Amino acid sequence: MDPPFLLLLTVSFVVCGLLEVTDFSMSSQKGFDIHTDPDPSAGMEIGQSGEKESRYKYTTITGYFLQDDPATDPFGFDFTKTNFGLIDRPYDSDTSLPNNGRELTGWQRFEHHISKLNQDAQKTRDGSGKSADVSYKLLFLGRHGNGFHNVAERYYGNVAWDCYFSALDSDKDNVMTWSDAHLTKEGIRQAQEANKFWKHQIKAERISLPQSYYVSPLDRALETANVTFGDLQPDGAAFRPIVMERAREGSGIHTCDRRSSVTYIKSRFPTFITDADPLLTEDDTYWDPVYRETNEALTIRQAKLLDSIVTKDKNERISITAHSGAIAMFLHAIGHQKFGLGTGAVIPVLVKAEPLSQPADFIDDRDKWQTIPKCPVGLDLETVGVQRWKMGLKEFLAGVENGTLQIEEMAFKGRH
Ligand SMILES: *[C@@H]1O[C@H](CO)[C@@H](O)[C@H](O)[C@H]1NC(C)=O
Ligand SMILES: *[C@@H]1O[C@H](CO)[C@@H](O)[C@H](O)[C@H]1NC(C)=O
Repeated sequence: MDPPFLLLLTVSFVVCGLLEVTDFSMSSQKGFDIHTDPDPSAGMEIGQSGEKESRYKYTTITGYFLQDDPATDPFGFDFTKTNFGLIDRPYDSDTSLPNNGRELTGWQRFEHHISKLNQDAQKTRDGSGKSADVSYKLLFLGRHGNGFHNVAERYYGNVAWDCYFSALDSDKDNVMTWSDAHLTKEGIRQAQEANKFWKHQIKAERISLPQSYYVSPLDRALETANVTFGDLQPDGAAFRPIVMERAREGSGIHTCDRRSSVTYIKSRFPTFITDADPLLTEDDTYWDPVYRETNEALTIRQAKLLDSIVTKDKNERISITAHSGAIAMFLHAIGHQKFGLGTGAVIPVLVKAEPLSQPADFIDDRDKWQTIPKCPVGLDLETVGVQRWKMGLKEFLAGVENGTLQIEEMAFKGRH
């Protein structure tokens, strides 16, 4: 383990935290295709059983987004007011565009740039005769909208949440259930904002939609993806993201991170693909009531998630709808600086994937998972919420849902 990694392990448990893949391109305007995908129909067949996953080394290529600039403060950062954070700059690939790309938007030139990077990597490979398959992927990592567990954690405070309430399915008065937490009305609103923002970006910035969508099997991520991308598919096609077991939030103890059965997922989201990932078993066998996954284990799981995607998916623009903890560790796995996301927020990253020669290994480090922390002496679990907010949970939830209570410093409010 390298030192920065160990440093990260001292960070406390992540709390219930998203990912997604299709071909749709706004790019054919004026008859010039800004994408030069070698094989646009090269779709994916994730996890055909028996298929081996490759391992890759990932590098975040910086200099494209404000979010990968150390000078950018994640607090208060709003991707909807900053064109997704895309830095307005020229690319060397602009010269291969008609009129040097002067009539194109920043997003169109950037997408063309990614295609050129992939084309050049392909040429290098053919030239050297090596089988190494370097590729560049633009990932849109989206966090689910506000869920009931987010409201409950805020209400009780994270200490009482982590040592007690997170292990319950609901509050004692049944105001809300937070096992496999669903989105609150506020969370649905946030996903609708993300949907409006994509529509705005498509129209004003001529951005192309992701070609592939992956999503965590937890309900709040599935619903966020559904609301965000459901009506954006070309020709009104059904939205068919691939549900990936490894995209789920850090697991164990917290019931919000215990998923429902595949049968339930299929009943809620009939068009979603639940049979592509062999790890997605009917029942949740990953979640453990007594032990919680460590950040270290979650980071390895996120790298493997990306391995399984990159092994099969030749697309360049990939969406993953997941969770705060999972995305934080995902960013760590690809060497991106820390960047916290509010509920409903999206971060784009450009990643270079270089194949490693070692085969995939299967680490089982459940012996390192951790038990629930002890509640501090003197913490009154009966009254902790009322003490903090001078109101009951029901009133608190109503305040969050009617917009009078702001529960996150960096909540994604959206403008479009
Ligand atoms: C998913 O989205 C479709 C339309 O895009 C909608 O009809 C359906 O109600 C949504 N399902 C859920 C569970 O949100
Ligand atoms: C919003 O909810 C809070 C808390 O329940 C309540 O006090 C307030 O009157 C509500 N405001 C509106 C505008 O509905």
